[in-house]
Amino acid sequence: MTTLTTIPPLADDLEFLSIVSEWDTEATYHQWSAKTLVPATFRPAQTPRVFVVTNNKGGVGKTTTAVELAAAWAAMGLRVRLIDADPQNAAITYWLGVEYPAGLPVEQQYNLRHVFLGTPADPQNPNGPTRDVSLDEATYPTKFENLYVVPCTPDLTRVEYERSSGTDNALRYAIAESQEHFDVTVIDASRTMSLVTLACLIAADEAIIPVKPGALDAQGVLSINSTIEKIQRRENPKLRVAAILTTMWEKSDLAREVEEQAAEDYPDAIVSPIRKTTKVGEAPATGQPTRLHAPRATAVADYGQVARLLLVKAA
Ligand SMILES: Nc1ncnc2c1ncn2[C@@H]1O[C@H](COP(=O)(O)OP(=O)(O)OP(=O)(O)O)[C@@H](O)[C@H]1O
Ligand SMILES: [Mg+2]
Repeated sequence: MTTLTTIPPLADDLEFLSIVSEWDTEATYHQWSAKTLVPATFRPAQTPRVFVVTNNKGGVGKTTTAVELAAAWAAMGLRVRLIDADPQNAAITYWLGVEYPAGLPVEQQYNLRHVFLGTPADPQNPNGPTRDVSLDEATYPTKFENLYVVPCTPDLTRVEYERSSGTDNALRYAIAESQEHFDVTVIDASRTMSLVTLACLIAADEAIIPVKPGALDAQGVLSINSTIEKIQRRENPKLRVAAILTTMWEKSDLAREVEEQAAEDYPDAIVSPIRKTTKVGEAPATGQPTRLHAPRATAVADYGQVARLLLVKAA
Protein backbone atom coordinates (compact mmCIF):
# COMPACT_ATOMS: atom_id res chain seq x y z
CA MET A 1 0.00 0.00 0.00
CA THR A 2 1.53 3.28 -1.06
CA THR A 3 1.23 6.24 1.27
CA LEU A 4 -1.31 8.86 0.28
CA THR A 5 -0.01 12.22 -0.87
CA THR A 6 -2.04 15.19 0.31
CA ILE A 7 -2.37 17.96 -2.27
CA PRO A 8 -1.60 21.12 -0.28
CA PRO A 9 -3.29 24.52 -0.61
CA LEU A 10 -1.65 27.09 -2.87
CA ALA A 11 0.74 29.64 -1.45
CA ASP A 12 -0.96 33.00 -0.85
CA ASP A 13 1.78 34.96 -2.55
CA LEU A 14 1.29 33.45 -6.01
CA GLU A 15 0.59 35.88 -8.82
CA PHE A 16 -3.11 35.26 -9.29
CA LEU A 17 -4.82 36.95 -12.21
CA SER A 18 -7.05 39.86 -11.27
CA ILE A 19 -10.77 39.19 -11.49
CA VAL A 20 -13.00 41.55 -13.47
CA SER A 21 -16.73 41.50 -14.16
CA GLU A 22 -16.41 42.92 -17.67
CA TRP A 23 -13.69 43.33 -20.25
CA ASP A 24 -12.18 46.72 -20.76
CA THR A 25 -12.58 46.76 -24.52
CA GLU A 26 -11.19 50.30 -24.67
CA ALA A 27 -7.80 49.25 -23.27
CA THR A 28 -4.97 49.54 -25.76
CA TYR A 29 -3.02 46.39 -26.53
CA HIS A 30 -0.23 47.74 -24.39
CA GLN A 31 -2.58 48.22 -21.40
CA TRP A 32 -4.34 44.91 -21.89
CA SER A 33 -3.23 41.92 -19.82
CA ALA A 34 -4.42 38.48 -18.71
CA LYS A 35 -7.48 38.71 -16.46
CA THR A 36 -10.18 36.35 -15.26
CA LEU A 37 -13.67 37.41 -16.32
CA VAL A 38 -16.44 36.53 -13.88
CA PRO A 39 -19.62 38.14 -15.19
CA ALA A 40 -22.09 39.49 -12.63
CA THR A 41 -24.57 36.85 -13.81
CA PHE A 42 -22.21 33.94 -13.10
CA ARG A 43 -23.27 31.67 -10.23
CA PRO A 44 -20.88 29.12 -8.77
CA ALA A 45 -22.07 25.54 -8.79
CA GLN A 46 -22.78 23.71 -5.55
CA THR A 47 -21.55 20.24 -4.73
CA PRO A 48 -22.30 17.52 -5.70
CA ARG A 49 -21.64 18.44 -9.29
CA VAL A 50 -20.62 16.80 -12.57
CA PHE A 51 -18.26 18.66 -14.89
CA VAL A 52 -17.29 17.62 -18.40
CA VAL A 53 -14.17 19.04 -20.02
CA THR A 54 -14.91 19.14 -23.70
CA ASN A 55 -13.78 20.44 -27.06
CA ASN A 56 -13.82 18.65 -30.39
CA LYS A 57 -10.39 20.03 -31.17
CA GLY A 58 -7.38 18.00 -30.13
CA GLY A 59 -4.47 19.16 -28.01
CA VAL A 60 -6.27 22.15 -26.51
CA GLY A 61 -5.62 21.19 -22.88
CA LYS A 62 -8.70 19.09 -22.02
CA THR A 63 -6.83 16.42 -20.07
CA THR A 64 -4.61 19.00 -18.38
CA THR A 65 -7.68 21.00 -17.36
CA ALA A 66 -9.48 17.92 -16.00
CA VAL A 67 -6.47 16.86 -13.93
CA GLU A 68 -5.54 20.31 -12.61
CA LEU A 69 -9.10 21.29 -11.67
CA ALA A 70 -9.58 17.91 -10.01
CA ALA A 71 -6.34 18.38 -8.07
CA ALA A 72 -7.39 21.88 -7.02
CA TRP A 73 -10.75 20.62 -5.76
CA ALA A 74 -9.11 17.67 -3.97
CA ALA A 75 -6.82 20.18 -2.25
CA MET A 76 -9.95 22.05 -1.10
CA GLY A 77 -10.95 18.88 0.76
CA LEU A 78 -13.54 17.81 -1.80
CA ARG A 79 -13.81 14.15 -2.76
CA VAL A 80 -13.21 14.03 -6.51
CA ARG A 81 -13.93 11.31 -9.07
CA LEU A 82 -12.11 11.77 -12.37
CA ILE A 83 -13.56 9.80 -15.27
CA ASP A 84 -11.16 9.08 -18.12
CA ALA A 85 -13.37 8.93 -21.21
CA ASP A 86 -10.78 9.27 -23.96
CA PRO A 87 -9.86 5.84 -25.32
CA GLN A 88 -7.31 7.28 -27.79
CA ASN A 89 -5.00 8.52 -25.10
CA ALA A 90 -6.25 7.13 -21.76
CA ALA A 91 -4.11 10.02 -20.61
CA ILE A 92 -5.44 10.40 -17.08
CA THR A 93 -5.06 6.70 -16.41
CA TYR A 94 -1.36 6.89 -17.35
CA TRP A 95 -0.76 10.31 -15.81
CA LEU A 96 -2.08 9.68 -12.31
CA GLY A 97 -2.13 5.89 -12.25
CA VAL A 98 -4.74 3.90 -10.38
CA GLU A 99 -4.23 1.82 -7.26
CA TYR A 100 -5.96 -1.52 -7.77
CA PRO A 101 -6.46 -3.55 -4.59
CA ALA A 102 -3.53 -5.93 -4.11
CA GLY A 103 -4.12 -9.27 -5.77
CA LEU A 104 -7.15 -8.14 -7.78
CA PRO A 105 -7.24 -10.36 -10.90
CA VAL A 106 -6.85 -8.42 -14.15
CA GLU A 107 -10.31 -9.41 -15.37
CA GLN A 108 -11.77 -7.77 -12.27
CA GLN A 109 -9.93 -4.51 -12.80
CA TYR A 110 -12.86 -2.62 -14.20
CA ASN A 111 -12.81 0.52 -16.29
CA LEU A 112 -15.26 2.81 -18.05
CA ARG A 113 -15.96 0.24 -20.79
CA HIS A 114 -17.36 -2.16 -18.18
CA VAL A 115 -19.71 0.55 -16.94
CA PHE A 116 -21.11 0.82 -20.47
CA LEU A 117 -20.98 -2.84 -21.52
CA GLY A 118 -20.96 -4.88 -18.30
CA THR A 119 -18.74 -7.89 -17.63
CA PRO A 120 -19.24 -11.66 -17.95
CA ALA A 121 -21.43 -12.80 -15.06
CA ASP A 122 -19.29 -15.93 -14.81
CA PRO A 123 -15.59 -15.03 -15.12
CA GLN A 124 -14.94 -18.63 -16.26
CA ASN A 125 -17.24 -18.07 -19.23
CA PRO A 126 -16.10 -14.88 -20.97
CA ASN A 127 -18.61 -15.27 -23.79
CA GLY A 128 -21.55 -15.98 -21.51
CA PRO A 129 -24.21 -13.61 -20.20
CA THR A 130 -23.05 -10.30 -18.76
CA ARG A 131 -23.86 -8.46 -15.56
CA ASP A 132 -23.83 -4.71 -15.02
CA VAL A 133 -20.78 -3.04 -13.49
CA SER A 134 -21.50 -0.01 -11.31
CA LEU A 135 -19.48 3.16 -11.53
CA ASP A 136 -18.32 2.55 -7.95
CA GLU A 137 -16.87 -0.84 -8.94
CA ALA A 138 -14.85 0.92 -11.65
CA THR A 139 -13.62 3.72 -9.37
CA TYR A 140 -10.16 3.32 -7.83
CA PRO A 141 -8.07 5.43 -5.51
CA THR A 142 -4.93 7.13 -6.75
CA LYS A 143 -1.88 7.89 -4.66
CA PHE A 144 -3.41 11.31 -3.99
CA GLU A 145 -5.80 12.01 -1.15
CA ASN A 146 -9.39 12.75 -2.27
CA LEU A 147 -8.61 11.89 -5.90
CA TYR A 148 -10.21 8.81 -7.46
CA VAL A 149 -10.09 7.66 -11.07
CA VAL A 150 -12.36 5.66 -13.34
CA PRO A 151 -9.71 4.38 -15.74
CA CYS A 152 -10.11 3.77 -19.41
CA THR A 153 -8.40 1.57 -21.97
CA PRO A 154 -8.36 1.73 -25.77
CA ASP A 155 -11.13 -0.86 -25.95
CA LEU A 156 -13.60 1.74 -24.70
CA THR A 157 -14.18 2.13 -28.46
CA ARG A 158 -16.06 -1.21 -28.31
CA VAL A 159 -19.00 0.79 -26.96
CA GLU A 160 -19.32 2.35 -30.43
CA TYR A 161 -19.99 -0.92 -32.24
CA GLU A 162 -21.47 -3.00 -29.40
CA ARG A 163 -23.95 -0.24 -28.76
CA SER A 164 -27.19 -1.18 -27.16
CA SER A 165 -30.20 1.02 -26.59
CA GLY A 166 -29.69 3.31 -23.62
CA THR A 167 -26.00 3.98 -24.20
CA ASP A 168 -26.67 7.72 -24.40
CA ASN A 169 -27.92 7.79 -20.83
CA ALA A 170 -25.69 5.04 -19.43
CA LEU A 171 -23.20 7.34 -17.73
CA ARG A 172 -25.86 9.68 -16.41
CA TYR A 173 -27.64 6.78 -14.73
CA ALA A 174 -24.38 5.26 -13.52
CA ILE A 175 -23.52 8.52 -11.74
CA ALA A 176 -27.05 8.85 -10.34
CA GLU A 177 -26.97 5.26 -9.04
CA SER A 178 -23.55 5.59 -7.43
CA GLN A 179 -23.67 4.78 -3.72
CA GLU A 180 -20.31 6.32 -2.87
CA HIS A 181 -20.29 10.00 -2.12
CA PHE A 182 -18.25 12.28 -4.33
CA ASP A 183 -18.44 16.05 -4.15
CA VAL A 184 -17.26 16.47 -7.72
CA THR A 185 -17.13 14.32 -10.82
CA VAL A 186 -14.84 15.50 -13.61
CA ILE A 187 -15.04 13.85 -17.04
CA ASP A 188 -12.19 14.13 -19.55
CA ALA A 189 -14.10 13.71 -22.82
CA SER A 190 -12.58 12.71 -26.13
CA ARG A 191 -12.26 15.17 -29.01
CA THR A 192 -14.15 12.61 -31.15
CA MET A 193 -17.90 13.09 -31.12
CA SER A 194 -18.50 9.40 -30.34
CA LEU A 195 -21.37 7.74 -28.54
CA VAL A 196 -19.26 7.81 -25.36
CA THR A 197 -18.60 11.55 -25.74
CA LEU A 198 -22.32 12.11 -26.22
CA ALA A 199 -22.98 10.10 -23.04
CA CYS A 200 -20.44 12.31 -21.21
CA LEU A 201 -22.20 15.50 -22.33
CA ILE A 202 -25.56 14.05 -21.29
CA ALA A 203 -24.20 13.05 -17.87
CA ALA A 204 -22.82 16.49 -17.01
CA ASP A 205 -24.27 19.50 -15.23
CA GLU A 206 -21.49 21.85 -16.31
CA ALA A 207 -19.20 22.05 -19.33
CA ILE A 208 -15.71 23.52 -19.22
CA ILE A 209 -14.32 24.38 -22.64
CA PRO A 210 -10.56 24.74 -22.99
CA VAL A 211 -9.60 26.68 -26.11
CA LYS A 212 -6.14 27.09 -27.52
CA PRO A 213 -6.49 30.37 -29.36
CA GLY A 214 -6.39 29.72 -33.09
CA ALA A 215 -7.43 31.72 -36.10
CA LEU A 216 -10.77 29.96 -36.56
CA ASP A 217 -11.81 30.47 -32.94
CA ALA A 218 -11.20 34.18 -33.29
CA GLN A 219 -13.74 34.32 -36.10
CA GLY A 220 -16.39 33.28 -33.64
CA VAL A 221 -16.77 29.68 -34.64
CA LEU A 222 -15.65 27.80 -31.57
CA SER A 223 -16.49 24.54 -33.26
CA ILE A 224 -17.85 23.04 -30.06
CA ASN A 225 -20.63 25.66 -29.85
CA SER A 226 -23.02 23.91 -32.20
CA THR A 227 -22.52 20.58 -30.42
CA ILE A 228 -23.25 22.13 -27.05
CA GLU A 229 -26.32 23.92 -28.38
CA LYS A 230 -27.65 20.71 -29.88
CA ILE A 231 -27.17 18.79 -26.63
CA GLN A 232 -28.88 21.59 -24.68
CA ARG A 233 -31.78 21.56 -27.14
CA ARG A 234 -32.23 17.81 -27.20
CA GLU A 235 -30.75 15.47 -24.61
CA ASN A 236 -29.56 17.65 -21.72
CA PRO A 237 -31.33 21.02 -21.35
CA LYS A 238 -29.65 21.62 -17.96
CA LEU A 239 -26.11 21.50 -19.37
CA ARG A 240 -24.48 24.83 -18.56
CA VAL A 241 -21.25 26.17 -20.00
CA ALA A 242 -19.51 27.27 -16.82
CA ALA A 243 -16.11 28.33 -18.15
CA ILE A 244 -14.10 28.92 -21.29
CA LEU A 245 -10.39 28.65 -20.57
CA THR A 246 -7.86 30.00 -23.01
CA THR A 247 -5.08 27.51 -22.45
CA MET A 248 -1.37 27.86 -23.16
CA TRP A 249 -2.11 31.56 -22.94
CA GLU A 250 0.41 34.07 -24.23
CA LYS A 251 -0.35 37.69 -24.89
CA SER A 252 -1.45 38.15 -28.50
CA ASP A 253 -4.19 39.87 -30.49
CA LEU A 254 -5.58 36.46 -31.25
CA ALA A 255 -5.87 35.52 -27.57
CA ARG A 256 -7.69 38.77 -26.92
CA GLU A 257 -10.09 38.23 -29.81
CA VAL A 258 -10.85 34.68 -28.71
CA GLU A 259 -11.56 35.79 -25.15
CA GLU A 260 -13.87 38.58 -26.32
CA GLN A 261 -15.66 36.15 -28.64
CA ALA A 262 -16.01 33.57 -25.86
CA ALA A 263 -17.52 36.18 -23.52
CA GLU A 264 -19.98 37.13 -26.26
CA ASP A 265 -20.93 33.50 -26.99
CA TYR A 266 -21.28 32.61 -23.29
CA PRO A 267 -22.17 35.82 -21.44
CA ASP A 268 -22.80 34.02 -18.11
CA ALA A 269 -19.61 31.96 -18.10
CA ILE A 270 -16.19 32.54 -16.59
CA VAL A 271 -13.60 33.31 -19.25
CA SER A 272 -10.06 32.90 -18.03
CA PRO A 273 -6.58 32.47 -19.42
CA ILE A 274 -4.46 29.58 -18.22
CA ARG A 275 -0.97 30.87 -18.76
CA LYS A 276 1.54 28.87 -20.75
CA THR A 277 4.03 27.16 -18.48
CA THR A 278 6.54 24.54 -19.60
CA LYS A 279 6.13 22.81 -16.23
CA VAL A 280 2.66 21.68 -17.35
CA GLY A 281 4.19 19.60 -20.12
CA GLU A 282 6.57 17.90 -17.68
CA ALA A 283 3.95 16.91 -15.11
CA PRO A 284 2.48 13.73 -16.70
CA ALA A 285 5.91 12.08 -16.83
CA THR A 286 6.32 12.71 -13.09
CA GLY A 287 3.01 10.92 -12.38
CA GLN A 288 1.57 13.86 -10.47
CA PRO A 289 -0.54 16.94 -11.21
CA THR A 290 1.39 20.09 -12.11
CA ARG A 291 0.07 21.46 -8.86
CA LEU A 292 2.42 19.07 -7.03
CA HIS A 293 5.22 19.03 -9.61
CA ALA A 294 5.50 22.82 -9.79
CA PRO A 295 3.21 24.40 -7.17
CA ARG A 296 4.31 27.93 -8.05
CA ALA A 297 3.71 27.65 -11.82
CA THR A 298 1.45 30.37 -13.22
CA ALA A 299 -0.89 27.78 -14.78
CA VAL A 300 -1.32 26.20 -11.33
CA ALA A 301 -2.37 29.56 -9.86
CA ASP A 302 -4.79 30.05 -12.77
CA TYR A 303 -6.39 26.61 -12.43
CA GLY A 304 -6.54 27.06 -8.64
CA GLN A 305 -8.36 30.36 -8.98
CA VAL A 306 -10.82 29.02 -11.56
CA ALA A 307 -11.52 25.94 -9.39
CA ARG A 308 -12.34 28.16 -6.41
CA LEU A 309 -14.63 30.35 -8.49
CA LEU A 310 -16.51 27.49 -10.14
CA LEU A 311 -17.64 25.54 -7.14
CA VAL A 312 -18.70 26.00 -3.55
CA LYS A 313 -19.28 23.21 -1.08
CA ALA A 314 -22.93 22.85 -0.16
CA ALA A 315 -23.45 23.62 3.52
N1 LIG B 1 -0.96 25.96 -19.72
C1 LIG B 1 -0.16 25.19 -20.45
N2 LIG B 1 1.14 25.54 -20.64
C2 LIG B 1 1.95 24.77 -21.38
N3 LIG B 1 1.60 23.62 -21.97
C3 LIG B 1 0.34 23.20 -21.81
C4 LIG B 1 -0.61 23.96 -21.05
N4 LIG B 1 -1.79 23.29 -21.09
C5 LIG B 1 -1.59 22.18 -21.82
N5 LIG B 1 -0.32 22.11 -22.27
C6 LIG B 1 0.29 21.06 -23.10
O1 LIG B 1 -0.42 20.95 -24.32
C7 LIG B 1 -0.48 19.61 -24.76
C8 LIG B 1 -1.93 19.22 -24.98
O2 LIG B 1 -2.61 19.23 -23.73
P1 LIG B 1 -3.68 18.10 -23.37
O3 LIG B 1 -3.13 16.75 -23.58
O4 LIG B 1 -4.19 18.44 -22.02
O5 LIG B 1 -4.77 18.42 -24.47
P2 LIG B 1 -6.07 17.56 -24.88
O6 LIG B 1 -7.06 18.55 -25.37
O7 LIG B 1 -6.45 16.66 -23.77
O8 LIG B 1 -5.50 16.70 -26.10
P3 LIG B 1 -6.22 15.45 -26.82
O9 LIG B 1 -7.26 16.05 -27.71
O10 LIG B 1 -5.10 14.80 -27.56
O11 LIG B 1 -6.81 14.59 -25.73
C9 LIG B 1 0.20 18.77 -23.68
O12 LIG B 1 1.51 18.51 -24.07
C10 LIG B 1 0.17 19.68 -22.46
O13 LIG B 1 1.24 19.43 -21.58
MG1 LIG C 1 -6.71 14.58 -23.70
